[in-house]
Amino acid sequence: MNVATRTILACTIALCTASTSALAQSSLNGYWDLRVPNPSGDGTFLDTYFQLQQNGDALSGQLIRWHHTTPIVGTVKKDSLHFATQPPASAPRWEQRPIVFDGTFANNHLTLSLQRGSHPVHAVAIRVTEEATQPPTPLPLPALHDVPDNGLARTPPMGWNSWNKFANKVDDASVRAMADAMVSSGMSKVGYVYINIDDTWELGRDAAGNILPNKKFPDMKALADYVHSKGLKIGIYSSPGPKTCAYYEGSFGHVQQDAATYAKWGIDYLKYDLCTDLDVYNDDAPTLQAIYQQMGDALQATHRPIVYSLCEYGRANVWTGWGEKSGGNLWRTTGDIEDNWQSMDKIGFSQIKIAPFVKPGHWNDPDMLEIGNGGMTADEYRTHMSLWSLLAAPLIAGNDLRTMTDETRSILMNTEIIAIDQDPRFQPVTEVSHDGDIEVLMRPLHDGSVAVGIFNRGQQASTGSFSRSSLPAGFKGKTLSVRDLWKHVDASINGDDFTTTVPMHGVVMLRIATR
Ligand code: GLA
Repeated sequence: MNVATRTILACTIALCTASTSALAQSSLNGYWDLRVPNPSGDGTFLDTYFQLQQNGDALSGQLIRWHHTTPIVGTVKKDSLHFATQPPASAPRWEQRPIVFDGTFANNHLTLSLQRGSHPVHAVAIRVTEEATQPPTPLPLPALHDVPDNGLARTPPMGWNSWNKFANKVDDASVRAMADAMVSSGMSKVGYVYINIDDTWELGRDAAGNILPNKKFPDMKALADYVHSKGLKIGIYSSPGPKTCAYYEGSFGHVQQDAATYAKWGIDYLKYDLCTDLDVYNDDAPTLQAIYQQMGDALQATHRPIVYSLCEYGRANVWTGWGEKSGGNLWRTTGDIEDNWQSMDKIGFSQIKIAPFVKPGHWNDPDMLEIGNGGMTADEYRTHMSLWSLLAAPLIAGNDLRTMTDETRSILMNTEIIAIDQDPRFQPVTEVSHDGDIEVLMRPLHDGSVAVGIFNRGQQASTGSFSRSSLPAGFKGKTLSVRDLWKHVDASINGDDFTTTVPMHGVVMLRIATR
């Protein structure tokens, strides 16, 4: 504890002890810890540290996480107080939303309410030391080398992940239910195989440093066995940082040990999310490569085939080489997707220029699917599925597989679209034309045919066309067969152009071959 902090704490104790209800000029001065049980009831706690400074009825201070501090501004009225964080534009993604606190002060305690996601949280804040506010000292990183290709993910991985729908509510029962539903819905028959647990499964570590699941996951090995018994594979999540993005236990200082634990449990896929590692190390390409290489090597040392999914939000142009060198089978190229048109459209169409940077075993990941989560229209979800397939993106569903409508099933299980995504000879998508709201993309396929997507990014139905002259040279003068991949009917190109009406935010997907 440094001298300044010690002084503030001593002063806080004195002032707090002197005050019981009415708030004196500086009663609230000091460092506080608001310890809140995680709302999912998993037996873990989330600590929110803040430092307050009271000046009459004005409050200022900062919320503290590692070395990120977010300014706090508020007011005091009699014995009640109100304050909110004011995140600067440079705040890490997971701290960009202001947090609003309301509360009272009595008997040396702050009783506060805040909104966490959709949950109102009421808890007591106590005076703390600054202990947990300091980022750990960086550990030495390994010298760089190329991690050998693990031979996995020859086509983009397909499966399901808990985050988009369940977030911190994921538990053993829901994972088993998703495995059941992946089989009973027929998804497993069309290629979906991974059932991936995202963040919030972690508790902490035992005395020997082994990672422990929290009470939502009583027996990880038994769960993996169950998922395997369905003919499926199971994935898990961690961070190279001390904490995950939801502030659960990360793998910092335990990389090899955690990889060995995953292998012991029977894990087949790891999503490794940068999160608080950014508080410990820089985010230049060589540093990120070393961080991810460490886990890449650790996974291979287990001798269990484990798909390695890098989650670093596209930092340091991961697709240009370091993602593959660190052993990654896929790497996130963007921030988090949300279940709305703006988010999906922005992410999806920004990916075309980096589509050539991938190859079998090493894929760009523009984030998981939102299909079926309710925030977009069926046409928008068809665009989502078509675009991800043209990009050769991983198809990781993010909805509740138990309650899918027929429409959602028809989108996620359109085998003619999945075949584009999973084409066995990867060739990248290119933009053929971009005229106002109409954007036409084309991707060559292994059998000499091409997939063509005519997208309408506008707010109303519009005419879109695709010109014969845009086809590769081998198509010249040939009779063409044209298949509409959403209507599942054969179509035709009359004359030089294929012209069609494309619904608002919708797509017409074609597969064109020579006869
Ligand atoms: C980050 C990732 C998400 C999800 C959450 C979990 O935001 O990008 O995909 O894994 O963390 O906390």
